Amino acid sequence: MKTTMLLLSVALAALLSCSHAHKSFQSRIPNGDRVPNPCQPGAIWAGVGHQSPAGANARNPFGMDFKAAGLQWTVDLCRKDSDGDGLTNGQELGDPDCVWKVGAAPARTTGLSHPGICPLDSATCKNSWTVCPKAFSCPALDGANVTMRNLTLKPTPVPANETTYICQAFELNNTASPVHLIGSRPIIDNKNVMHHMIMYACSVKPEQTLFDNPKQCFMALGNCTEMLNLWGYGVKGECFNSNAGFRIGGDGFRYGVLQLHWNNPARHSGYTDASGFALYFTQNLRPYDLGTVMYGEGNLVLPPRQPLISVNHTCPSVCTNRYHNETRYITGATIHMHTYGIKGRISLWRNGTMIKDLSPLQVYDYNSPEIHAFDPPIEYRKGDEVKTECYFNTQKTNVTIFFGEGTSDEMCLSFLYYYPNDVSVSTDDKLGRCIGVSGINSCWLRSRITPQIERGCNITAMRNGEIPNRVYSEMAANKCFSRTGCDPLCRNYLENTLWPNNACYDPKRSRQMAEVLALGLFQLNSAVTLAISSTLFGQRFCEQEIKMLAEMDRPAAPDRTTTTARPPATPTSQKGGLSSEHLLIIIVVCSCLGFILILALLIFLSIKLKGASSAAGLSSGQQGAPDKSSVYKVYDNEASG
Ligand SMILES: *[C@@H]1O[C@H](CO)[C@@H](O)[C@H](O)[C@H]1NC(C)=O
Ligand SMILES: *[C@@H]1O[C@H](CO)[C@@H](O)[C@H](O)[C@H]1NC(C)=O
Ligand SMILES: *[C@@H]1O[C@H](CO)[C@@H](O)[C@H](O)[C@H]1NC(C)=O
Ligand SMILES: *[C@@H]1O[C@H](CO)[C@@H](O)[C@H](O)[C@H]1NC(C)=O
Ligand SMILES: *[C@@H]1O[C@H](CO)[C@@H](O)[C@H](O)[C@H]1NC(C)=O
Ligand SMILES: *[C@@H]1O[C@H](CO)[C@@H](O)[C@H](O)[C@H]1NC(C)=O
Ligand SMILES: *[C@@H]1O[C@H](CO)[C@@H](O)[C@H](O)[C@H]1NC(C)=O
Ligand SMILES: *[C@@H]1O[C@H](CO)[C@@H](O)[C@H](O)[C@H]1NC(C)=O
Ligand SMILES: *[C@@H]1O[C@H](CO)[C@@H](O)[C@H](O)[C@H]1NC(C)=O
Ligand SMILES: *[C@@H]1O[C@H](CO)[C@@H](O)[C@H](O)[C@H]1NC(C)=O
Repeated sequence: MKTTMLLLSVALAALLSCSHAHKSFQSRIPNGDRVPNPCQPGAIWAGVGHQSPAGANARNPFGMDFKAAGLQWTVDLCRKDSDGDGLTNGQELGDPDCVWKVGAAPARTTGLSHPGICPLDSATCKNSWTVCPKAFSCPALDGANVTMRNLTLKPTPVPANETTYICQAFELNNTASPVHLIGSRPIIDNKNVMHHMIMYACSVKPEQTLFDNPKQCFMALGNCTEMLNLWGYGVKGECFNSNAGFRIGGDGFRYGVLQLHWNNPARHSGYTDASGFALYFTQNLRPYDLGTVMYGEGNLVLPPRQPLISVNHTCPSVCTNRYHNETRYITGATIHMHTYGIKGRISLWRNGTMIKDLSPLQVYDYNSPEIHAFDPPIEYRKGDEVKTECYFNTQKTNVTIFFGEGTSDEMCLSFLYYYPNDVSVSTDDKLGRCIGVSGINSCWLRSRITPQIERGCNITAMRNGEIPNRVYSEMAANKCFSRTGCDPLCRNYLENTLWPNNACYDPKRSRQMAEVLALGLFQLNSAVTLAISSTLFGQRFCEQEIKMLAEMDRPAAPDRTTTTARPPATPTSQKGGLSSEHLLIIIVVCSCLGFILILALLIFLSIKLKGASSAAGLSSGQQGAPDKSSVYKVYDNEASG
């Protein structure tokens, strides 16, 4: 099956690895301001510095070599052929004899080429930078009966904060009978801050004030859950599969909410922005309505300083069997993580066999999201499973990273575009979201597919409150609520009584699941369940963060480097380290923060689920660390069938 990747064109990264500072580095290489853009004859390579305020991972072979050379033009760098096209960097940049010095005139200023990106026609090139982004081409947008409307944010001041999500509502339909939304082009007003934007469709009219006054918002937008349009760095436009379009107006979507993500790491004040989309609608309805689904993991707890953490989520067979009426056709797929994401993959499975890499395992760059488009589309049958794999590197942080909206929080989500979509069916009834929370899938929850006994835990007794109430009293008696579970008495109880004897709370079996059960999704007494779960969440940090904070307090030992991954703290067998009270306070603050984020997600989910109940597949754990901490135990619970 032919797979093309053309729905969106993808940005090439900067000439220099440190993109936000590329201007000042241009003067450090010969002809730095005259490097031709290999993708666009006649144009000068500007780098994407202005597009990557986050200080992107932007990298090409020359950029990496330049960085390795200490951001200096050295003879070695000059003699090297970074992009492997047969010419040295010096030959490409007009310093063939490698004699140029900063400020001097280069030997020649013509006949230049890009040292990190091969010419389009190069036969010898060995690097992946040979492919320039395809120009955006979508003839359908210029077709007959197509109208274009610009939906842009009212000019709005950008707060002097690193991360801001801002939303404005729009009426989408401009006809009484339905039309199809068939594509978009971005309208980027302020490149300094625009990070990404999404147009969501709403099932009911948003509150009136949101039409007139843009306001800060989160990703979970109440009744506006269907993603219509997505823009990220480098994307020139969207061109939906010619069989389908999003149904707008008439009996289709009538309202949308535009959400912009502004990234302003320098906390510059005085910016304004009015970005948005040009949307293209056709009156000539296509055969099918298009839809999107969001799959992924809602409870991320990523320990600090790890070179590789793997998180997997599966939208299980039992859910697609129940909620898919018919075969769906996937026309596009995109994975979403934040800045700790390094690799990702989306794959389609049937009866235990992988049948399609929807988004092959590859380097992930937050600043250059890719949508993989399929033409012809991929068959997605009832009972098929979609697996999302996310890989994170947390070596640059000393704190635990949680699921969250902020650029410094993390996500692990897949978005799929598919048809046919029945717009009259609610998002839940067509499995528009298949979100796991620590091994429990929202699909299981609302359809009560939960088995009675899950990995030794009696779900019935969890649901009816029997186990949580008993455990709550025992925990209270063991001082678990006075010091967020880090009190030695509590830890003794957890390690020697609760965990060995109660599978619902045993970290080696189903503790993560039990935590979520305890979080009140099963209509339990919320005070009891919240107390238990916050204590258990707090536990995660008793070992690792106490140790880490203690280390940071100590004068730095000479043999320790921040680039060396430290094995995770030995988990439950270790009882020491509860030394100072202020550490505990910090830990409590940290764990509460994570807890609140997770709680916010759960509240959102439970609103969606209307208190119904139960469950699916995540497993989160570490790779590359020999000692698998049970605190981050990998659970093999990717449910199927
Ligand atoms: C445009 O739409 C009208 C009404 O739906 C239809 O009659 C006409 O054939 C369309 N024109 C083209 C070129 O598709
Ligand atoms: C829509 O926005 C584009 C890009 O900013 C602009 O060129 C065009 O004139 C706008 N069209 C309308 C109808 O406002
Ligand atoms: C910026 O962030 C601070 C601290 O998080 C917050 O109190 C403030 O409201 C934010 N400012 C704006 C304009 O959003
Ligand atoms: C949207 O559609 C409704 C019903 O079809 C119609 O009454 C309304 O006027 C339309 N709105 C716009 C802006 O065209
Ligand atoms: C969603 O729509 C329902 C029904 O119109 C409304 O009661 C509810 O408040 C809305 N939710 C949000 C978050 O706007
Ligand atoms: C999986 O295999 C079973 C038995 O061979 C078959 O009935 C079922 O349709 C298969 N599932 C899918 C999604 O093809
Ligand atoms: C599945 O089919 C039934 C009967 O045709 C219909 O009522 C229901 O809305 C469909 N559900 C979905 C998700 O398409
Ligand atoms: C699970 O708990 C319920 C209610 O407390 C009890 O009736 C049932 O026997 C238990 N099931 C098992 C297998 O222990
Ligand atoms: C992390 O902690 C180490 C000391 O353990 C310190 O040298 C380093 O600067 C810290 N990194 C960050 C990003 O805070
Ligand atoms: C996720 O899936 C990949 C590929 O199957 C596997 O290598 C990895 O160990 C899994 N990670 C977890 C945490 O289960």
